[in-house]
Amino acid sequence: MDLVKRPRRLRKCSALRDMLRETALDVKDLIYPLFVVPGEGMIQEVASMPGIRRFSIDMMINEAKAVKDLGIPAVLLFGVPSAKDEMGSGAYADDGIIQNAVRAIKRNIPDMMVITDVCMCEYTSHGHCGFVEDGYVANDKSAELIAKTALSHARAGADMVAPSDMMDGRVGAIRKLLDTEGFENVPIMAYSAKYASCFYGPFREAAGSAPQFGDRKSYQMDPANSDEALREIALDIEEGADIVMVKPALAYLDVISRAKQTFNIPLAAYNVSGEYAMVKAAGRMGCLDEKSAAMEILTSIKRAGADLIITYFAKDVAGWLATR
Ligand code: PBG
Repeated sequence: MDLVKRPRRLRKCSALRDMLRETALDVKDLIYPLFVVPGEGMIQEVASMPGIRRFSIDMMINEAKAVKDLGIPAVLLFGVPSAKDEMGSGAYADDGIIQNAVRAIKRNIPDMMVITDVCMCEYTSHGHCGFVEDGYVANDKSAELIAKTALSHARAGADMVAPSDMMDGRVGAIRKLLDTEGFENVPIMAYSAKYASCFYGPFREAAGSAPQFGDRKSYQMDPANSDEALREIALDIEEGADIVMVKPALAYLDVISRAKQTFNIPLAAYNVSGEYAMVKAAGRMGCLDEKSAAMEILTSIKRAGADLIITYFAKDVAGWLATR
């Protein structure tokens, strides 16, 4: 007589379940996004992202310290400039909002890892991620301005730069410029497989970066594609990316998994604003338990293969992990 196979034996008690758990979230895997606004003494709520606030540089220092004290090693900075123009000149100004914010954090919290989002959409009057010519985001000129932006961040003291524009060749352009200017030790975390996703909606409110005409489909990827993601990642690695990223995360776990299995390189996943807002809203409506949902989602992102997770839940998770 065949014995019944009993995998439930290993699920019988919590000690054994704990011993055999395959994936564990660690606060060291997390990166917390911070939005910086002009002015002084400013702390602004972001309506669509409960719990997320935008800070002027002076107020941001305390927030960054709190993040550090929770054990979260890194922040990812996004800037909201006081003025925008066609060329997005605020993105690469030496005294731009990000450049000043980087200097302030490094001065006050030297061992905080400061990563900067390198893009133009917050700084251009048209809201696109590059230089627009005849209604089209011109690739090579945009890549040049993106590289210039990355260099200005490195000069201000950024520990790592993260281009999120999806222009062709921008990783190579950044690597070349950083190297010629003496920043060969500043790593690039490339938003390699970045999709044209509706899940960025709340972010665009936080960063004031919605495109003023059209959409981003001529540079960000079609959500229906996954082979293309692998080609984009391969190109970024070839051009010198140190860490590659899949974004968004939750609806793209298959892409994270394929990327992890295909490439032997650190992989980040961006648990984006809409993924955060969705859980917050459902939690507030009593449809599900926010903490359990957030932990399950983030654990799944890690299980799929992400080494690092950029998430608006980072502070909450740090607290939950500490009190477990
Ligand atoms: C800038 C950028 C975006 C996000 C990160 N960098 C928005 C976009 O591409 O429109 C989205 C992050 C989020 O939704 O949390 N290009």
